[in-house]
Amino acid sequence: MNLILLGPPGAGKGTCARMLADKKNFFHISTGDILREEVKKGTSLGQNVRNYMESGKLVADEVILDIIEQRLENWSGGDKSFVLDGFPRTMAQAEGLESVLQKKHLFINQVILLDVPEGELIRRLSSRRVCGNCGANYNLISQPPKIPDVCDYCGGKLYQREDDREETVRNRLRIYQQEIQPLVDHYTNKGLLVRLDGEGTIDDVFQRLLTLLQLLKKDDYS
Ligand code: AP5
Repeated sequence: MNLILLGPPGAGKGTCARMLADKKNFFHISTGDILREEVKKGTSLGQNVRNYMESGKLVADEVILDIIEQRLENWSGGDKSFVLDGFPRTMAQAEGLESVLQKKHLFINQVILLDVPEGELIRRLSSRRVCGNCGANYNLISQPPKIPDVCDYCGGKLYQREDDREETVRNRLRIYQQEIQPLVDHYTNKGLLVRLDGEGTIDDVFQRLLTLLQLLKKDDYS
């Protein structure tokens, strides 16, 4: 079952996708994580996209489609499913994805749109922290590290994403509002779009997602 997670910045796409990867063996493709890794490594791609990301603007469709094509090129997932997080974000990306998938005889089975009110998005993003070493995500309110500013997994130092500063968050939300409706219409017309209430604790939302996907097993929350 291949999925797309749509939703505004801070809706919980990355959190849900990482949990699907950890608990349900999904292959997680996050364009944001891939780009941040390139920036961190200082590659020419990273240098080219850095300013866009830090100001909350979208990176060019062709760049993003190249990344997705590369990730799916050698896809031989067998029984494994993939989840796309933060992609597609424009109609050009959605159309590009369709031709990549067609070449590989792959399909998207469901598109999930996470609904979260704006006030909650801003609260979540202003309290998000990320490990500078391994990229693990935390939240000072809902998912704090055991020791302040230190990653539970690798001991790396936590930092605030440059694009999580309030003014940039507002810019990202504005761009999201401009781009999302055509994608919603597109996937609704294909009969693939389902809205999911993204409010509540991380476990509540994940349980709701598993129920929706009919992936909930008795031992998931024991
Ligand atoms: P990207 O990294 O994709 O950012 P985003 O889409 O803005 O999404 P976020 O990572 O901010 O939010 P999320 O929904 O994943 O929430 P999360 O689970 O982390 O992209 C960054 C930039 O890269 C873009 O601005 C653009 O420049 C570029 N880019 C990337 N993809 C692109 C594309 N396709 N096209 C063009 N440019 C692209 O949760 C947020 C916080 O809330 C965390 O701290 C988490 O712990 C917490 N949290 C999550 N769920 C809950 C909950 N239920 N209750 C309480 N807290 C919660």
